Amino acid sequence: MHFKSTLHALAALFLLQTTIAAPVTDIASRDSTEIEARGECTWGFICGVIKNDPRSNRSLQVTNDWPKRDSGAWKWIGVGGSSTAVMKDADGFYVPSGCRATSVDDVLVWDAGKWHKINDLQEYTVKVIC
Ligand SMILES: *[C@@H]1O[C@H](CO)[C@@H](O)[C@H](O)[C@H]1NC(C)=O
Repeated sequence: MHFKSTLHALAALFLLQTTIAAPVTDIASRDSTEIEARGECTWGFICGVIKNDPRSNRSLQVTNDWPKRDSGAWKWIGVGGSSTAVMKDADGFYVPSGCRATSVDDVLVWDAGKWHKINDLQEYTVKVIC
């Protein structure tokens, strides 16, 4: 029934060290050699997911092509939307200058004016206020 989420949890256990113990401001921008992040999902079905929090007040720009991030790989997700609607595997998101991007619980803060990478095992909801 929850086959996928069980596998997801197992995979997360294997790869815990890639997400644990990173400085909080740095979690989304860490590089990982173990996890494929170029438009491919790990093991075919574990994909990066980025959501735009319903409390955001602008669309969020995402890419499925790290590290190139050329304009052909950009997509926008509206307030309350998810990258799954526009791409299978999201690799990163952009925080425009002058915006404040935080996790839902306000614990993580992502620098403005930069792209931030996520890994396939990560699902982030970003609240972006501009
Ligand atoms: C977003 O919300 C902030 C804080 O309430 C406000 O200052 C800003 O003008 C809003 N921006 C837009 C694009 O609505």
